[in-house]
Amino acid sequence: MSQFKYLLAPLENTSDKAFRKLCYNHGADLTFTEMTRLKSLIKNNKSTLKKIKLIDDTPTTIQLLVSSEKDVETFLKTFKPKKGFKGFNINLGCPSPDVINIGLGCAMIKRVSKIKKIVDIFKKYNYEISIKLRLGMNQYEKQKKAYLNLIKEINCDFIIHARHGKQTYEEKADFSIYKECVATGRKIFANGDITTHKQIEELKEIGVKGVMIGREAVRNPAIFEFLKNKKEPDFEKLKKEYVELTDTYQTPDVYKNNIIPRLGKEADRYRVNQG
Ligand SMILES: Cc1cc2nc3c(=O)[nH]c(=O)nc-3n(C[C@H](O)[C@H](O)[C@H](O)COP(=O)(O)O)c2cc1C
Repeated sequence: MSQFKYLLAPLENTSDKAFRKLCYNHGADLTFTEMTRLKSLIKNNKSTLKKIKLIDDTPTTIQLLVSSEKDVETFLKTFKPKKGFKGFNINLGCPSPDVINIGLGCAMIKRVSKIKKIVDIFKKYNYEISIKLRLGMNQYEKQKKAYLNLIKEINCDFIIHARHGKQTYEEKADFSIYKECVATGRKIFANGDITTHKQIEELKEIGVKGVMIGREAVRNPAIFEFLKNKKEPDFEKLKKEYVELTDTYQTPDVYKNNIIPRLGKEADRYRVNQG
C-alpha cells in the first residue's frame, strides 16, 4: 500500500518558493503554488509567471484557475517542466466573488463535461493532474452532491476542502463527506482544519490517501513532521530558516508579512474566505 501523504496547501500571497521549501524540509511530501490564472500566464504576465517559476527540487504542483480548453492547449504547447515540478492542479474551490462571477472556482463544479475535456488535455500531454474542490457553491449544492458526481465522472486525484463556498473558517470542515468520496474508488485527499494525530487516524481509517494542510502550516511549518513522527517544532529555528530562505528566494514583503507574525503563534483566525 502506498504511503499516506502530507501536502502543503496552496495559499495566496503565502506559499511561495521559500515557504514551500521550508515545509518540504520539514516533512511535506508535496507542495502547491498559490493559485495562478491561466489567462494571465498566457498573456505572459510577469508577476504570474514568477509564481510558477520553479528553481529547486521541492516537489511542487502548479495550481491553475482554468476557464477554457483552448487556453490549456496554448499554455501546454510551450510549457517546459523544471526540476521539482510534479504536475498541475485545477482550482474548483475558490469562492471569491470575482472568480465565481465569471463561472470559475467553485462555480465550475457542476460543469462536468467541460472539466473532463480540460483534464483530458493535461493527460494528453502526460502531466499529472488533480482537482482541488469545495463541496459546491452553497448548502443547496452541497446537499445535491454535485461534488460526488464530479468525482465519479472524472478520473483523477481529488483534494477536497470539506466546506461549501458560502462557509467561512468559523464553521467546521465536514469530515463526514469523505466516506462517500472514498467509495468512488478515486484517490481522495482531505483538507480543512487538519492539525492533530487523532484526525489523521480517523482519516486513515476512512481510506483517504493523505491530507492537505494550510493555515496550521503557517503557524507551524513543521506540522508535517510532527504528524508523521511526533517531532516537536523549534519555532525559533524555523523562523530563522524561513528568513534565510526568503533572502535566497527574494520573497516579496507581502509573503513574509503573512508568515513571520503568525509563525509559532496560536492560530489567529484568518478573516478571509478562500479556496
Ligand atoms: C490566506 C489563504 C490563501 C489561500 N489561497 C488559496 C489558493 O490560492 N488556492 C486554493 O486552492 N486555496 C487557497 N486557500 C485555501 C487553502 O488551500 C485550504 O483549502 C483552506 O485554508 C483549508 O485548509 P486549512 O484548514 O488547512 O487551512 C487559501 C487559504 C488561505 C487562508
